[in-house]
Amino acid sequence: MRYIGNKENLLPQIYEIFQQKNIQGKSFFDVFSGTANVGKYFKNLDYQIFSSDLMYFSYVLQKAYICNNEDCQFEKLLTKLNFRSTKLFCSPLEMVVEYLNQIEPQEGFIYQNYTPEPTQHLEKPRMYFSSENGKIIDAIRLKIEQWKSEDLLTENEYFILLACLIETVPFYANIAGVFGAFHKKWDVRAIKKMELRTIPLLKNNHQNFVFNQNSVDLVSQIKADIYYLDPPYNQRQYAPNYHLLETIAKYDNPIIKGVSGMRDYSEQKSGFCNAKTALQELEKIATLGSYNYLVLSYNSEGIMQSDDIINTLAKYGNIELVEFDYLRFKSNNNGQSKHKKYVKEQLYILKR
Ligand SMILES: C[S@@+](CC[C@H](N)C(=O)[O-])C[C@H]1O[C@@H](n2cnc3c(N)ncnc32)[C@H](O)[C@@H]1O
Repeated sequence: MRYIGNKENLLPQIYEIFQQKNIQGKSFFDVFSGTANVGKYFKNLDYQIFSSDLMYFSYVLQKAYICNNEDCQFEKLLTKLNFRSTKLFCSPLEMVVEYLNQIEPQEGFIYQNYTPEPTQHLEKPRMYFSSENGKIIDAIRLKIEQWKSEDLLTENEYFILLACLIETVPFYANIAGVFGAFHKKWDVRAIKKMELRTIPLLKNNHQNFVFNQNSVDLVSQIKADIYYLDPPYNQRQYAPNYHLLETIAKYDNPIIKGVSGMRDYSEQKSGFCNAKTALQELEKIATLGSYNYLVLSYNSEGIMQSDDIINTLAKYGNIELVEFDYLRFKSNNNGQSKHKKYVKEQLYILKR
C-alpha cells in the first residue's frame, strides 16, 4: 500500500544494520505499525510480534497479517454459499473473494458521500470513487459485516476479508496518494471497475498480539527484546490523510465535514506531529517500555532535532546513530510532477 513513511523498500537495509549491530532477540514490538509491513517482515523471521497503531484500518491489517496464524478455510461460509468457482484450483480465500466480486452493487455510505452523483448539491461534488466503484465498495463491506453478524466467519476470517478490501481500495481511488483531497478529473485507474484482491497469509510459530491504541500508553504493558519506533516525522497527521480507509474499515456512518468529507479525528492526533510534544512522547516510551534494544527510524528532515533525540535517549543506555541515503520521489501538491530527492534515513539505536 502507498503510505507515508511506508518502510517496505527500506526493510532489507534496516535489517542489514540490525545484523551488523548485533540487534537480535525473539520478540519484536512494531510500535507505529501503519501498513504492518515491518511486523510482517519480522514475523517472517519468526519473531514473536507485538504491534499497534492509532488508526483502526491499520489494526485491521495487523489482525490479518500479524495476528492470524491459520490457513483460514472459510468452512462455515463456503458451506452456506454453495458457490462454484470458475477456476480449477483456488484457495478458500480466493473463492470467497471471487464470490464478493460478483455480488450486486449497493448504494451505501461510500457511494452516497464520496462519489459525484449523490454529492452534486455540494460546491465541489466529491470524486473519490466512480459511482460504480463506490457501490461495489459498499456492497462488499456490507456483505462482510452481514456474514459476521450471521456468525459465518471466524474472527481471523473477518479481518482477512476487511484487509483485502483496505488493500484493494487505494488502487481505485481518484487521489494523489493520500485521501486528504481528490482529483478534479478522473484518473484512469479510478474509472476501472474495482476487483477485490486477495492478501497473502503469513504464519509463524508464535502467538502475536496487535493493538489499536496510543502506543505511548501501551508500552508499559509490552515487554519485547526489540522496540522498533517509526513515528510520524513532521506535522502532517495521518488520520485526515487516510480518513476514507478509516471509514471503510469502521463503516460506522460518521458525521463528515468539508470538501473532502472528513470524519472527526480529534482522538487520533499524534503527539509526534508536534515539535513540542514529540520529544516528550519519545522519552515516555524510552522510560516506560521494557526492551533490550530501542531502534528509532527517523529522517534528516524530521521535527525532532538529532542532538535532542540523542540527549533524550542517552539517559537510558548506549546510543548510536546510523545514517544512510534514501532516494525519495516527491510529488507536488496535486500529484502532477515528481522529482527525486535524497534524504538521510536515520536509525537511532539504543541499547539498554
Ligand atoms: C511513519 S508511519 C509508520 C509506517 C510503518 N512503519 C509502515 O511501514 O507502514 C507512522 C504511524 O504511526 C501512527 N501513530 C502516530 N502516533 C501514534 C501513537 N501515539 N500511537 C500509535 N500509533 C501512532 C500513525 O497512525 C502512522 O500509521
